Amino acid sequence: MLRDRPPSSRLSLGSPRQTASAIAPACIGNFGPGLDVLGVAVSGACDRVTVTRVEDGSVTIDEPGHPDLPRDAAANTAGIAARAVLLRAGIDVGVRVSIIKGLPLCGGQGGSAASAVAAAVAVNRLIGEPLDPAALLECAVEAEAIVSGRHADNVAPQLFGGVVLVRSLDPLDVVQLASPSELRIVLAHPDQKLRTAEARSVLPQFIARATVVKQLGNVAAIVAALESDDLQLLGRAMDDQIAEPARAVLLPGFTQAREAAMTAGSLGGSISGAGPTSFWLAGDDVTARRIVDAVRASYTALGIGCNARATRIAQLGSLDLPEDSTAA
Ligand code: HSE
Repeated sequence: MLRDRPPSSRLSLGSPRQTASAIAPACIGNFGPGLDVLGVAVSGACDRVTVTRVEDGSVTIDEPGHPDLPRDAAANTAGIAARAVLLRAGIDVGVRVSIIKGLPLCGGQGGSAASAVAAAVAVNRLIGEPLDPAALLECAVEAEAIVSGRHADNVAPQLFGGVVLVRSLDPLDVVQLASPSELRIVLAHPDQKLRTAEARSVLPQFIARATVVKQLGNVAAIVAALESDDLQLLGRAMDDQIAEPARAVLLPGFTQAREAAMTAGSLGGSISGAGPTSFWLAGDDVTARRIVDAVRASYTALGIGCNARATRIAQLGSLDLPEDSTAA
């Protein structure tokens, strides 16, 4: 169930564009206990993808956006998503892809997913928007699956905006949830890198029933809290019994950052996506600023640099962010 969106300004297939762009916001995957099922788009930094039409059917990466990102289109999420859109649309043209990377690499803010989403939206714009949002979501998930593992809790909010629940991956079924306007979110990104594939490899295969029951209760409580604007309940429900314990050991300083954020007044928080970024919820700007300072200081005390910022839920995703905007 997705929110109504304004009708798109479809271009006629008779007047092909030569170039098109899209941006996609950062994202908190695994929002608290919502491993692979709850994601939140956040405002601020974005990835931007620009595509240029070529007639020979090839998909190439002109500019990967960072020296560590692949120039091979088959290994780059933007290239994979671009190709997937062209194949689904059955259109016999290709694209040259240029990425401006606003999101950190291996940072836990949905960087690889953002490039996939923005590429899918940009290519669809280029060819006159033949694909509907559900098909674009499939294309982005396909790209994310090849590079980081199959999950939609980043790409879905980055495409649609707000908080999104992934009810099912096969078939894809996503639900947009309410986004409390008072909610502030601190994103703390320590100077560490953790590849999603590595962070997924430490997740437990089997989980005790008592843990599952607790996790289910917390995920359900998040949905209820968002719908009723109950920030205290939202904070209490940020209790991840599955991914956080498994991944915290890979993230020096996370436990101390948690302690610092909670002491500074956070409602709750956890690891963002696969980490190393963590997120901390607050109900007002003053508390959010206090959390920024406290978490940064806790990393500094351990000799680890940390970039922390206060942000909010990004209500618009890539589909609805204007082509020429520079931030979500
Ligand atoms: N749900 C994914 C994971 C998010 O936890 O591996 C990765 O960004």
